[in-house]
Amino acid sequence: MNPRPATVAGLGELHDWLLEHHGDTVDADRLPAIRTELEALAARHVPGAVVELGCYQGAMALWMRAVLDATGQRRREVHVYDSFQGLPERGAKDPDLFEAGYLRAEPDQVLALHERWGRTPPAIHPGWFADTLPGRLPVQIAFAYLDGDYYDSIRTCLAACVPRMAPGGTLIVDDYADLEANPRAWNGLPGVKAACAEYFAAPSPLEVITGAGDLALGRYTTPTTGTRR
Ligand SMILES: C[S@@+](CC[C@H](N)C(=O)[O-])C[C@H]1O[C@@H](n2cnc3c(N)ncnc32)[C@H](O)[C@@H]1O
Repeated sequence: MNPRPATVAGLGELHDWLLEHHGDTVDADRLPAIRTELEALAARHVPGAVVELGCYQGAMALWMRAVLDATGQRRREVHVYDSFQGLPERGAKDPDLFEAGYLRAEPDQVLALHERWGRTPPAIHPGWFADTLPGRLPVQIAFAYLDGDYYDSIRTCLAACVPRMAPGGTLIVDDYADLEANPRAWNGLPGVKAACAEYFAAPSPLEVITGAGDLALGRYTTPTTGTRR
């Protein structure tokens, strides 16, 4: 087994290993961006759990667990959700890129990855978001990472998560692909941005996090007072 990266400095080894072995879903822009967001939670003392909606084999879940552990947030729970049957049938707003069932993974892969790195595994909630989220989300969410690729999946996740976000919490939407914010962004999943546009009333409260490459994550920060969108 690899040594546990219990310190911030120790995260470097995991970072490099993830890029080498899980470069299909995590990259050199995403890992530091998510790390920065999780570190900010501790600094702002935001209460609640971390959730990942669309965890696939668990690469980002492992990274989030390791960052939390290395930044004084060992007690923060991580919950992950996935069909473990891959992508559903695409909807009218999604591109004809992938067959239903693409990106199929197993809960055991998530467990094995955490075991390999000596990390506490997340709570795993297998099933379609529409079935699992209504009854199985934590009461309070500090950080939500939405990576469900399709319009319906993202709409379902937003409707379930936003009302549970802690004041000052952060919700990240992967594949947001705002070409104005980052002309290099990969715009292969336009249903994601369309779902955000329909869920959040204009003007959009989402900021865009960019990186050196094609990254364009949407970030919604929950108001600390007043009404949530
Ligand atoms: C791009 S992968 C997630 C990658 C992962 N976040 C990572 O960084 O390693 C998208 C995942 O979303 C899941 N997914 C998409 N729509 C879903 C839905 N409606 N219900 C459950 N899972 C869904 C798929 O099964 C797939 O594993």
